[in-house]
Amino acid sequence: GDVGLLPTPPMGFNNWARFECDLNETLFTDTAQSMVSRGLLDAGYNRLNLDDCWMQTERSANGSLQWNTTLFPHGIPWLANYAREHGFHLGIYEDAGNATCGGYPGSLNHEQQDADTFASWGIDYLKLDGCNIYAENGQPLRDEYKDLYTQWHKILSGMSQPLIFSESAPAYFCTNETDWMRVMDWIPENGELARHSDDVLVYSGEGSAWESIMTNYDYQVQVARYQQPGYYNDPDFLIPDHPGLTDDEKKSHFALWASFGAPLIISAYIPDLPEEVITFLKNKDFIDVDQDPLAQQAALVTRDANFDVLTRSLANGDRLLTVLNRGKKTSKTTIPISQLGLDSSCKYRARNLWTGAVETIKESVEITLDTHATIAYRITPPRGCTKTTPTGMIFNTAS
Ligand code: DGJ
Repeated sequence: GDVGLLPTPPMGFNNWARFECDLNETLFTDTAQSMVSRGLLDAGYNRLNLDDCWMQTERSANGSLQWNTTLFPHGIPWLANYAREHGFHLGIYEDAGNATCGGYPGSLNHEQQDADTFASWGIDYLKLDGCNIYAENGQPLRDEYKDLYTQWHKILSGMSQPLIFSESAPAYFCTNETDWMRVMDWIPENGELARHSDDVLVYSGEGSAWESIMTNYDYQVQVARYQQPGYYNDPDFLIPDHPGLTDDEKKSHFALWASFGAPLIISAYIPDLPEEVITFLKNKDFIDVDQDPLAQQAALVTRDANFDVLTRSLANGDRLLTVLNRGKKTSKTTIPISQLGLDSSCKYRARNLWTGAVETIKESVEITLDTHATIAYRITPPRGCTKTTPTGMIFNTAS
């Protein structure tokens, strides 16, 4: 990824997990207005991303993609301009193969033409999906993805106004660890973010939304080492109006994604979100962690029957401690600060990111958490206190 193009993870809105193909111009203009009036834009959520199903089923006579004029009566260029005038950037969705997952025209053999179209519409961000890609000449499928995504990277980064490139390729390989890692190896240099795993449960979906979040969380911790300024692992959307989630699960989702320095792309009907949800989505302490310029992803240091403990370094020398109770009931744990790579002989200032309360900690931190709740502390070492890399880091060995 290019640090200049995307210095910190993207924040904004996408229609997919909430509305799937049921998108239109009004959804985007209403969402934009609500994001302004409810303070989300000021908090940093400045992207409006269209997902699948925005286009017509056929290209035009000269081969260009065309927007669905029923859904977008004023057109996508008008919407991009509307977004810009309200302080947002507009992003769009395409697929590297023959067709999008929803069955609309894919970009295969139209790469440069489609990139030029998007740029001419005023779009600066492309999510490129990976449905309907088939290997040519019997080459391994992962090499077909590599060829296509590398080609797209050349095109997008070579434009007079380069586009941010969100790569979906790794998501198509996450069930085979060897292939997945081989794909991940070329991902960071070719784009600014990548979906590495399954879709978070859509609003209309059946099953457990929390389990889908935890599945992506488990994939995310395995790719921590790939993240760097200008490239962010994407564990998929925040879904804070999903009817299957408890309040603690919604807050945990946000707190964990922010701890990861992950994209914070909300897929919800923002005008109807309760005020408490808007309030936690705007939490400045968590957003500062998410947007920390070091862009280090929190790494898992310990896991027991109930608790996951994660930590990361922050640009100003602070250390983040994030703890999730994955268990089914309220539980208590004690975390020795040596596990975080902090010198146990020092006293630290620790700021609770949910409450803003500041405590002093020594040697260990005692935590009680309800089921599926998450707590995070920003820990400031006193001058002269040494820090090391936590020894217990799981999945964080450099490749
Ligand atoms: C699969 C992606 O992972 C989703 O986020 C969404 O873009 C759909 N395709 C759209 O068809």
